[in-house]
Amino acid sequence: MQEKTTGIIGSGAMGSGIAQVAAMAGHRVVLYDNNEAALNKAQSGLQQTLQKLQEKGKIENAPAVLALFSFTNNLNDLAECSLVIEAIVEKLEIKQQVFAALEKQVCDDCILATNTSSLSVTAIAAACTRPERVIGLHFFNPPPLMALVEVVPAIQTGKVIVSTSIDILKAWGKTPVVAKDTPGFIVNRVARPFYGEALRIFEEGIADMPTIDWAMTQIGGFRMGPFSLMDYIGHDVNYVVTETVFQSLYYDPRYKPSLSQKRLLEAGWLGRKAGRGFYDYAEGAIQASATENETLGRTIVDRVVAMLINEAVEALYLKIATAADLDLSMTKGVNYPKGLLKWCDTWGAAQVLKVLDDLYEAYGEDRYRASVLLRKVAKVGQSFFP
Ligand code: NAI
Repeated sequence: MQEKTTGIIGSGAMGSGIAQVAAMAGHRVVLYDNNEAALNKAQSGLQQTLQKLQEKGKIENAPAVLALFSFTNNLNDLAECSLVIEAIVEKLEIKQQVFAALEKQVCDDCILATNTSSLSVTAIAAACTRPERVIGLHFFNPPPLMALVEVVPAIQTGKVIVSTSIDILKAWGKTPVVAKDTPGFIVNRVARPFYGEALRIFEEGIADMPTIDWAMTQIGGFRMGPFSLMDYIGHDVNYVVTETVFQSLYYDPRYKPSLSQKRLLEAGWLGRKAGRGFYDYAEGAIQASATENETLGRTIVDRVVAMLINEAVEALYLKIATAADLDLSMTKGVNYPKGLLKWCDTWGAAQVLKVLDDLYEAYGEDRYRASVLLRKVAKVGQSFFP
Protein backbone atom coordinates (compact mmCIF):
# COMPACT_ATOMS: atom_id res chain seq x y z
CA MET A 1 0.00 0.00 0.00
CA GLN A 2 1.21 3.47 -0.86
CA GLU A 3 1.15 6.19 1.77
CA LYS A 4 -0.23 8.81 -0.57
CA THR A 5 -3.35 10.75 0.31
CA THR A 6 -5.66 11.97 -2.43
CA GLY A 7 -8.29 14.60 -1.78
CA ILE A 8 -11.51 14.72 -3.76
CA ILE A 9 -13.72 17.80 -3.74
CA GLY A 10 -17.34 17.06 -4.60
CA SER A 11 -18.78 13.68 -3.70
CA GLY A 12 -21.26 13.35 -6.59
CA ALA A 13 -21.22 10.82 -9.41
CA MET A 14 -17.73 11.70 -10.64
CA GLY A 15 -16.12 12.56 -7.29
CA SER A 16 -17.12 9.32 -5.59
CA GLY A 17 -16.15 7.31 -8.69
CA ILE A 18 -12.68 8.89 -8.79
CA ALA A 19 -12.39 8.37 -5.01
CA GLN A 20 -13.10 4.67 -5.53
CA VAL A 21 -10.39 4.42 -8.19
CA ALA A 22 -7.81 6.08 -5.91
CA ALA A 23 -8.69 3.92 -2.89
CA MET A 24 -8.65 0.72 -4.92
CA ALA A 25 -5.11 1.68 -5.97
CA GLY A 26 -4.18 1.90 -2.29
CA HIS A 27 -4.35 5.65 -1.72
CA ARG A 28 -5.87 7.13 1.39
CA VAL A 29 -8.77 9.32 0.25
CA VAL A 30 -10.30 12.37 1.85
CA LEU A 31 -13.68 13.05 0.26
CA TYR A 32 -14.93 16.59 0.81
CA ASP A 33 -18.35 18.03 -0.01
CA ASN A 34 -20.16 21.10 1.34
CA ASN A 35 -23.45 19.22 1.31
CA GLU A 36 -23.88 16.80 4.20
CA ALA A 37 -26.58 14.76 2.42
CA ALA A 38 -24.37 14.30 -0.67
CA LEU A 39 -21.52 13.15 1.54
CA ASN A 40 -23.69 10.58 3.33
CA LYS A 41 -25.03 9.33 0.02
CA ALA A 42 -21.48 8.92 -1.33
CA GLN A 43 -20.43 7.05 1.81
CA SER A 44 -23.27 4.53 1.64
CA GLY A 45 -22.91 4.25 -2.16
CA LEU A 46 -19.20 3.43 -1.86
CA GLN A 47 -19.90 0.94 0.91
CA GLN A 48 -22.41 -0.91 -1.28
CA THR A 49 -20.22 -0.81 -4.38
CA LEU A 50 -17.17 -2.16 -2.57
CA GLN A 51 -19.25 -4.88 -0.94
CA LYS A 52 -20.58 -5.94 -4.36
CA LEU A 53 -17.05 -5.95 -5.79
CA GLN A 54 -15.97 -8.25 -2.97
CA GLU A 55 -18.89 -10.60 -3.61
CA LYS A 56 -17.91 -10.74 -7.28
CA GLY A 57 -14.33 -11.53 -6.28
CA LYS A 58 -12.99 -8.28 -7.81
CA ILE A 59 -11.53 -7.10 -4.50
CA GLU A 60 -10.47 -9.13 -1.51
CA ASN A 61 -11.40 -7.00 1.43
CA ALA A 62 -14.08 -4.32 1.09
CA PRO A 63 -13.81 -3.09 4.72
CA ALA A 64 -10.05 -2.60 4.27
CA VAL A 65 -10.62 -0.42 1.18
CA LEU A 66 -13.41 1.45 2.97
CA ALA A 67 -11.05 2.12 5.87
CA LEU A 68 -8.89 4.19 3.50
CA PHE A 69 -11.66 6.79 3.20
CA SER A 70 -12.47 9.74 5.36
CA PHE A 71 -15.45 11.99 4.67
CA THR A 72 -15.46 15.65 5.57
CA ASN A 73 -17.10 19.03 5.12
CA ASN A 74 -14.01 20.85 6.32
CA LEU A 75 -11.47 21.94 3.69
CA ASN A 76 -8.73 21.89 6.38
CA ASP A 77 -8.82 18.10 6.28
CA LEU A 78 -7.19 18.16 2.83
CA ALA A 79 -3.92 19.51 4.30
CA GLU A 80 -2.07 16.17 4.02
CA CYS A 81 -2.93 15.52 0.38
CA SER A 82 -0.34 15.27 -2.39
CA LEU A 83 -3.08 15.46 -5.03
CA VAL A 84 -6.56 16.99 -4.87
CA ILE A 85 -9.09 16.44 -7.66
CA GLU A 86 -12.06 18.78 -7.84
CA ALA A 87 -15.38 17.45 -9.20
CA ILE A 88 -18.00 20.01 -8.15
CA VAL A 89 -20.65 21.84 -10.12
CA GLU A 90 -19.57 23.00 -13.61
CA LYS A 91 -19.46 26.76 -12.90
CA LEU A 92 -16.27 28.74 -13.44
CA GLU A 93 -16.72 31.26 -10.59
CA ILE A 94 -17.50 28.53 -8.05
CA LYS A 95 -14.55 26.40 -9.15
CA GLN A 96 -12.27 29.46 -8.97
CA GLN A 97 -13.45 30.20 -5.41
CA VAL A 98 -12.83 26.61 -4.35
CA PHE A 99 -9.34 26.55 -5.90
CA ALA A 100 -8.38 29.84 -4.26
CA ALA A 101 -9.54 28.54 -0.85
CA LEU A 102 -7.98 25.10 -1.38
CA GLU A 103 -4.58 26.54 -2.23
CA LYS A 104 -4.36 28.02 1.27
CA GLN A 105 -4.97 24.64 2.93
CA VAL A 106 -2.58 22.30 1.12
CA CYS A 107 1.21 21.97 1.12
CA ASP A 108 3.33 23.59 -1.59
CA ASP A 109 3.90 20.46 -3.66
CA CYS A 110 0.28 19.32 -3.75
CA ILE A 111 -1.10 18.99 -7.30
CA LEU A 112 -4.48 20.66 -7.80
CA ALA A 113 -6.58 19.04 -10.49
CA THR A 114 -9.99 19.79 -11.97
CA ASN A 115 -12.30 17.25 -13.58
CA THR A 116 -14.04 19.94 -15.63
CA SER A 117 -15.32 18.74 -18.97
CA SER A 118 -16.04 22.08 -20.59
CA LEU A 119 -14.37 24.96 -18.76
CA SER A 120 -10.94 26.39 -19.47
CA VAL A 121 -8.36 24.84 -17.14
CA THR A 122 -6.29 27.98 -17.71
CA ALA A 123 -9.11 30.16 -16.32
CA ILE A 124 -9.45 27.91 -13.25
CA ALA A 125 -5.66 27.96 -12.69
CA ALA A 126 -5.68 31.75 -12.90
CA ALA A 127 -7.59 31.86 -9.58
CA CYS A 128 -4.49 30.48 -7.81
CA THR A 129 -1.34 32.30 -6.73
CA ARG A 130 0.65 29.25 -7.93
CA PRO A 131 -1.20 28.32 -11.14
CA GLU A 132 1.74 26.17 -12.30
CA ARG A 133 0.54 23.27 -10.13
CA VAL A 134 -3.01 23.28 -11.51
CA ILE A 135 -3.99 20.73 -14.18
CA GLY A 136 -7.10 19.22 -15.76
CA LEU A 137 -7.68 15.49 -15.19
CA HIS A 138 -10.83 14.71 -17.11
CA PHE A 139 -12.28 11.31 -16.18
CA PHE A 140 -15.12 9.61 -18.03
CA ASN A 141 -18.34 8.38 -16.49
CA PRO A 142 -18.28 6.03 -14.61
CA PRO A 143 -14.65 6.55 -13.55
CA PRO A 144 -14.04 3.03 -12.18
CA LEU A 145 -15.03 1.47 -15.53
CA MET A 146 -13.72 3.95 -18.08
CA ALA A 147 -9.97 3.69 -18.61
CA LEU A 148 -9.42 6.98 -20.39
CA VAL A 149 -8.38 10.15 -18.58
CA GLU A 150 -7.60 13.32 -20.53
CA VAL A 151 -4.68 15.13 -18.94
CA VAL A 152 -5.06 18.82 -19.72
CA PRO A 153 -2.23 21.19 -18.81
CA ALA A 154 -3.29 24.82 -18.51
CA ILE A 155 -0.95 27.22 -20.29
CA GLN A 156 0.52 27.95 -16.80
CA THR A 157 1.03 24.28 -15.78
CA GLY A 158 4.57 23.09 -15.01
CA LYS A 159 6.01 20.15 -17.00
CA VAL A 160 6.70 18.07 -13.88
CA ILE A 161 3.05 18.36 -12.84
CA VAL A 162 2.07 16.81 -16.19
CA SER A 163 4.47 13.86 -15.91
CA THR A 164 3.66 13.25 -12.22
CA SER A 165 -0.07 13.24 -13.00
CA ILE A 166 0.46 10.75 -15.83
CA ASP A 167 2.48 8.47 -13.51
CA ILE A 168 -0.27 8.56 -10.87
CA LEU A 169 -2.99 7.74 -13.40
CA LYS A 170 -0.97 4.84 -14.80
CA ALA A 171 -0.48 3.51 -11.27
CA TRP A 172 -4.27 3.69 -10.89
CA GLY A 173 -4.65 1.49 -13.98
CA LYS A 174 -5.90 4.33 -16.17
CA THR A 175 -5.01 5.27 -19.75
CA PRO A 176 -3.90 8.92 -19.73
CA VAL A 177 -3.79 10.99 -22.92
CA VAL A 178 -2.55 14.56 -23.08
CA ALA A 179 -4.89 17.18 -24.53
CA LYS A 180 -4.42 20.87 -25.23
CA ASP A 181 -6.62 23.18 -23.15
CA THR A 182 -9.19 23.81 -25.89
CA PRO A 183 -13.01 23.45 -25.79
CA GLY A 184 -14.12 19.83 -25.43
CA PHE A 185 -10.48 18.69 -25.10
CA ILE A 186 -10.24 15.54 -27.29
CA VAL A 187 -13.30 13.31 -26.94
CA ASN A 188 -16.02 15.91 -26.47
CA ARG A 189 -14.76 17.76 -29.53
CA VAL A 190 -13.88 14.95 -31.93
CA ALA A 191 -17.09 13.00 -31.20
CA ARG A 192 -19.45 15.89 -32.06
CA PRO A 193 -20.28 14.71 -35.63
CA PHE A 194 -21.39 11.30 -34.31
CA TYR A 195 -24.41 13.13 -32.94
CA GLY A 196 -24.54 16.25 -35.13
CA GLU A 197 -24.30 14.58 -38.52
CA ALA A 198 -26.75 11.84 -37.54
CA LEU A 199 -29.20 14.55 -36.45
CA ARG A 200 -28.67 16.37 -39.72
CA ILE A 201 -29.36 13.22 -41.77
CA PHE A 202 -32.51 12.67 -39.72
CA GLU A 203 -33.70 16.28 -40.00
CA GLU A 204 -33.29 16.21 -43.76
CA GLY A 205 -35.44 13.09 -43.91
CA ILE A 206 -32.72 11.01 -45.54
CA ALA A 207 -33.37 8.26 -42.99
CA ASP A 208 -35.31 7.82 -39.77
CA MET A 209 -33.74 7.30 -36.34
CA PRO A 210 -33.95 3.49 -36.15
CA THR A 211 -32.40 3.24 -39.62
CA ILE A 212 -29.52 5.56 -38.70
CA ASP A 213 -28.96 3.62 -35.47
CA TRP A 214 -29.11 0.33 -37.36
CA ALA A 215 -26.58 1.56 -39.96
CA MET A 216 -24.12 2.91 -37.39
CA THR A 217 -24.15 -0.27 -35.31
CA GLN A 218 -24.57 -3.00 -37.93
CA ILE A 219 -22.53 -1.49 -40.75
CA GLY A 220 -20.37 1.03 -38.88
CA GLY A 221 -19.57 -1.32 -36.00
CA PHE A 222 -20.31 1.24 -33.26
CA ARG A 223 -21.55 -0.17 -29.98
CA MET A 224 -24.63 2.10 -29.89
CA GLY A 225 -26.39 4.14 -32.53
CA PRO A 226 -26.32 7.95 -32.17
CA PHE A 227 -29.99 8.31 -31.14
CA SER A 228 -29.90 5.49 -28.59
CA LEU A 229 -26.65 6.90 -27.27
CA MET A 230 -27.96 10.47 -26.96
CA ASP A 231 -31.01 9.11 -25.11
CA TYR A 232 -28.68 7.14 -22.87
CA ILE A 233 -26.37 10.08 -22.09
CA GLY A 234 -29.37 12.39 -21.56
CA HIS A 235 -30.14 15.47 -23.62
CA ASP A 236 -29.50 17.77 -20.67
CA VAL A 237 -25.86 16.62 -20.86
CA ASN A 238 -25.35 15.84 -24.55
CA TYR A 239 -27.11 18.92 -25.97
CA VAL A 240 -25.40 21.21 -23.48
CA VAL A 241 -21.95 19.84 -24.38
CA THR A 242 -22.69 20.46 -28.08
CA GLU A 243 -23.90 23.98 -27.42
CA THR A 244 -20.91 24.78 -25.18
CA VAL A 245 -18.40 23.47 -27.73
CA PHE A 246 -20.18 25.41 -30.52
CA GLN A 247 -20.12 28.68 -28.54
CA SER A 248 -16.58 28.19 -27.28
CA LEU A 249 -15.28 27.55 -30.79
CA TYR A 250 -16.64 30.90 -31.96
CA TYR A 251 -19.73 29.42 -33.64
CA ASP A 252 -17.90 27.25 -36.13
CA PRO A 253 -20.75 25.66 -38.19
CA ARG A 254 -19.08 22.23 -37.90
CA TYR A 255 -20.37 22.07 -34.32
CA LYS A 256 -23.82 23.61 -34.82
CA PRO A 257 -26.39 22.13 -32.41
CA SER A 258 -29.70 20.70 -33.61
CA LEU A 259 -33.14 22.15 -32.99
CA SER A 260 -34.71 18.68 -32.84
CA GLN A 261 -32.54 17.88 -29.86
CA LYS A 262 -33.15 21.27 -28.27
CA ARG A 263 -36.92 20.69 -28.41
CA LEU A 264 -36.49 17.40 -26.50
CA LEU A 265 -34.62 19.28 -23.81
CA GLU A 266 -37.34 21.93 -23.64
CA ALA A 267 -40.03 19.26 -23.34
CA GLY A 268 -38.15 17.54 -20.54
CA TRP A 269 -37.80 14.44 -22.74
CA LEU A 270 -34.28 13.95 -21.47
CA GLY A 271 -33.87 10.38 -22.68
CA ARG A 272 -33.87 7.02 -20.99
CA LYS A 273 -33.85 8.44 -17.46
CA ALA A 274 -37.04 10.42 -18.23
CA GLY A 275 -38.72 7.46 -19.95
CA ARG A 276 -38.76 9.42 -23.19
CA GLY A 277 -36.25 10.99 -25.55
CA PHE A 278 -35.88 10.33 -29.25
CA TYR A 279 -37.41 6.96 -28.42
CA ASP A 280 -40.28 6.11 -26.07
CA TYR A 281 -39.15 3.90 -23.19
CA ALA A 282 -42.61 3.35 -21.70
CA GLU A 283 -43.52 -0.29 -21.22
CA GLY A 284 -45.25 -1.65 -24.28
CA ALA A 285 -44.36 1.38 -26.44
CA ILE A 286 -44.16 0.44 -30.10
CA GLN A 287 -40.82 1.25 -31.74
CA ALA A 288 -40.55 1.91 -35.45
CA SER A 289 -38.26 -0.56 -37.15
CA ALA A 290 -35.22 0.23 -39.25
CA THR A 291 -35.20 0.12 -43.02
CA GLU A 292 -32.37 -2.33 -43.45
CA ASN A 293 -31.17 -1.07 -46.79
CA GLU A 294 -27.44 -1.70 -47.28
CA THR A 295 -26.87 1.11 -49.79
CA LEU A 296 -28.63 3.71 -47.66
CA GLY A 297 -26.89 2.38 -44.54
CA ARG A 298 -23.48 2.63 -46.18
CA THR A 299 -24.15 6.24 -47.25
CA ILE A 300 -25.10 7.15 -43.69
CA VAL A 301 -22.02 5.51 -42.18
CA ASP A 302 -19.66 7.00 -44.78
CA ARG A 303 -21.02 10.49 -44.15
CA VAL A 304 -20.82 10.33 -40.35
CA VAL A 305 -17.46 8.56 -40.24
CA ALA A 306 -15.91 10.95 -42.81
CA MET A 307 -17.00 13.86 -40.60
CA LEU A 308 -15.54 12.16 -37.51
CA ILE A 309 -12.24 11.43 -39.25
CA ASN A 310 -12.08 15.04 -40.43
CA GLU A 311 -12.46 16.20 -36.80
CA ALA A 312 -9.67 13.90 -35.64
CA VAL A 313 -7.38 15.02 -38.47
CA GLU A 314 -8.09 18.68 -37.73
CA ALA A 315 -7.41 18.08 -34.02
CA LEU A 316 -4.05 16.57 -34.98
CA TYR A 317 -3.35 19.51 -37.29
CA LEU A 318 -4.15 21.95 -34.46
CA LYS A 319 -1.86 19.97 -32.11
CA ILE A 320 -4.66 19.23 -29.66
CA ALA A 321 -3.13 15.77 -29.16
CA THR A 322 -0.77 13.30 -30.81
CA ALA A 323 -2.06 10.81 -33.40
CA ALA A 324 -1.64 7.93 -30.95
CA ASP A 325 -3.49 9.76 -28.17
CA LEU A 326 -6.29 10.83 -30.51
CA ASP A 327 -6.94 7.22 -31.49
CA LEU A 328 -6.63 5.94 -27.91
CA SER A 329 -9.15 8.57 -26.79
CA MET A 330 -11.87 7.44 -29.16
CA THR A 331 -11.40 3.72 -28.56
CA LYS A 332 -11.02 3.94 -24.76
CA GLY A 333 -13.16 7.02 -24.05
CA VAL A 334 -16.19 6.30 -26.25
CA ASN A 335 -15.56 2.71 -27.34
CA TYR A 336 -15.27 3.40 -31.08
CA PRO A 337 -14.55 0.21 -33.04
CA LYS A 338 -11.35 1.74 -34.46
CA GLY A 339 -9.27 4.84 -33.88
CA LEU A 340 -10.34 7.51 -36.37
CA LEU A 341 -6.86 8.13 -37.82
CA LYS A 342 -6.31 4.39 -38.22
CA TRP A 343 -9.73 4.29 -39.87
CA CYS A 344 -8.58 7.02 -42.26
CA ASP A 345 -5.49 4.94 -43.10
CA THR A 346 -7.55 1.84 -43.91
CA TRP A 347 -10.30 3.64 -45.79
CA GLY A 348 -7.83 5.91 -47.59
CA ALA A 349 -7.53 9.67 -47.04
CA ALA A 350 -8.50 10.32 -50.67
CA GLN A 351 -11.81 8.46 -50.20
CA VAL A 352 -12.58 10.33 -46.98
CA LEU A 353 -11.79 13.61 -48.69
CA LYS A 354 -14.08 12.75 -51.59
CA VAL A 355 -17.04 12.20 -49.24
CA LEU A 356 -16.40 15.58 -47.62
CA ASP A 357 -15.82 17.44 -50.87
CA ASP A 358 -19.03 15.97 -52.34
CA LEU A 359 -20.96 17.16 -49.27
CA TYR A 360 -19.33 20.56 -49.49
CA GLU A 361 -20.29 20.85 -53.12
CA ALA A 362 -23.86 19.69 -52.51
CA TYR A 363 -24.54 21.97 -49.54
CA GLY A 364 -22.09 24.83 -50.02
CA GLU A 365 -21.72 24.96 -46.24
CA ASP A 366 -18.53 25.57 -44.32
CA ARG A 367 -19.65 22.74 -42.03
CA TYR A 368 -18.26 20.30 -44.61
CA ARG A 369 -14.86 21.91 -45.16
CA ALA A 370 -12.10 19.36 -45.14
CA SER A 371 -9.09 19.81 -42.88
CA VAL A 372 -6.07 21.14 -44.73
CA LEU A 373 -4.10 18.23 -43.27
CA LEU A 374 -6.54 15.69 -44.72
CA ARG A 375 -6.09 17.34 -48.10
CA LYS A 376 -2.30 17.14 -47.80
CA VAL A 377 -2.29 13.53 -46.66
CA ALA A 378 -4.67 12.54 -49.46
CA LYS A 379 -2.50 14.29 -52.04
CA VAL A 380 0.75 12.58 -51.13
CA GLY A 381 -0.88 9.25 -50.21
CA GLN A 382 0.64 9.36 -46.74
CA SER A 383 -0.75 7.48 -43.73
CA PHE A 384 -0.99 8.49 -40.07
CA PHE A 385 0.46 5.25 -38.76
CA PRO A 386 2.94 4.13 -41.43
P1 NAI B 1 -22.76 15.95 -9.28
O1 NAI B 1 -23.81 16.97 -9.30
O2 NAI B 1 -23.13 14.50 -9.25
O3 NAI B 1 -21.80 16.21 -8.02
C1 NAI B 1 -21.29 17.47 -7.67
C2 NAI B 1 -21.02 17.47 -6.16
O4 NAI B 1 -20.30 18.66 -5.85
C3 NAI B 1 -22.31 17.48 -5.31
O5 NAI B 1 -22.22 16.46 -4.36
C4 NAI B 1 -22.30 18.86 -4.66
O6 NAI B 1 -22.84 18.85 -3.35
C5 NAI B 1 -20.83 19.20 -4.63
N1 NAI B 1 -20.54 20.63 -4.62
C6 NAI B 1 -21.11 21.59 -5.38
N2 NAI B 1 -20.54 22.78 -5.09
C7 NAI B 1 -19.61 22.55 -4.13
C8 NAI B 1 -18.68 23.38 -3.45
N3 NAI B 1 -18.63 24.70 -3.67
N4 NAI B 1 -17.86 22.81 -2.54
C9 NAI B 1 -17.92 21.49 -2.31
N5 NAI B 1 -18.76 20.64 -2.93
C10 NAI B 1 -19.61 21.18 -3.84
O7 NAI B 1 -21.81 16.27 -10.55
P2 NAI B 1 -20.89 15.27 -11.40
O8 NAI B 1 -21.68 14.70 -12.51
O9 NAI B 1 -20.18 14.38 -10.47
O10 NAI B 1 -19.88 16.30 -12.07
C11 NAI B 1 -18.87 16.95 -11.35
C12 NAI B 1 -17.83 17.56 -12.28
O11 NAI B 1 -17.33 16.56 -13.14
C13 NAI B 1 -18.34 18.67 -13.18
O12 NAI B 1 -17.29 19.60 -13.36
C14 NAI B 1 -18.62 17.95 -14.47
O13 NAI B 1 -18.56 18.79 -15.60
C15 NAI B 1 -17.46 16.95 -14.50
N6 NAI B 1 -17.69 15.76 -15.32
C16 NAI B 1 -18.89 15.10 -15.31
C17 NAI B 1 -19.09 13.97 -16.09
C18 NAI B 1 -20.38 13.24 -16.06
O14 NAI B 1 -20.63 12.42 -16.97
N7 NAI B 1 -21.25 13.45 -15.09
C19 NAI B 1 -18.00 13.43 -16.93
C20 NAI B 1 -16.76 14.15 -16.81
C21 NAI B 1 -16.64 15.28 -16.06
